[in-house]
Amino acid sequence: MTTTSPYDVQPGDRVHRRDPVVVDRHSSFVRVNHWTTVITMLLLWASGFALFHPSLYFLAGLFGSGENAREWHPWLGLVLFVAFYGLFFRFWRACLFAGEDSRWLAGLPKVMAGGDEERLPEVGRFNAGQKMFFWIMAIMVIIMLVTGLAMWDQYFYDYTTIEQKRIMVLIHSVVAVLVVCGVIVHVSMVIWERGTLQAMTRGYVTGGWAWKHHRKWLRELVTGGRVGP
Ligand code: HEM
Repeated sequence: MTTTSPYDVQPGDRVHRRDPVVVDRHSSFVRVNHWTTVITMLLLWASGFALFHPSLYFLAGLFGSGENAREWHPWLGLVLFVAFYGLFFRFWRACLFAGEDSRWLAGLPKVMAGGDEERLPEVGRFNAGQKMFFWIMAIMVIIMLVTGLAMWDQYFYDYTTIEQKRIMVLIHSVVAVLVVCGVIVHVSMVIWERGTLQAMTRGYVTGGWAWKHHRKWLRELVTGGRVGP
């Protein structure tokens, strides 16, 4: 039996021969990292939208005042950058596109319209939708950071002109809305694929879930000897 792991298998991934079978999917470290990203993202949305439009200014109440929301927002952005890139360096290999991804994407509309998931090709640790979310977020987080730094006048006022700052505000706002849309799709997929949420809350999934949604990954674990009691 081979012991070399495919590129998408994470160090802690393991199948447990219990009744029912469970499969370790996300370590405690990854889960804390993920939920730190989520909490920071929510705080960024609240502080960002409070600054965006007077009708949303009430959200500044969460921070005590508008001044606090304005002051905390860029620091929260830095925390998000570090937290997201913690996930990035953990998952980038597993999110490289594989041969089956385009066929999986092509077959997805029929499955979402009520078709049989068995018609889709077997996928590894992440499916093509998860991989797309991952890479799109990686790009958008960088754009938010760069445009945000350009607007952080307290420290970087001299580095950009007023004209450039205006363009940065526009890009920052448009990409922020795209980030919100991306996260809404991400959460919808988690809800749609029953049993997925516990991967990020408890750290493990059922063998049935892994067989149904990530069969190639499950096969990789079993044939790679990642099986324990
Ligand atoms: C309430 C909001 C959220 C919920 C309920 C949620 C839930 C989850 C769950 C259950 C997984 C594991 C999927 C699996 O193992 O197959 C996951 C993965 C992931 N989440 Fe979230 N998430 C949320 C928000 C976010 C946010 C704001 C980000 C950062 C922008 C994020 C980034 C990721 C990444 C990078 C992964 C791994 C790759 C992927 O599944 O695409 N999540 N999330």
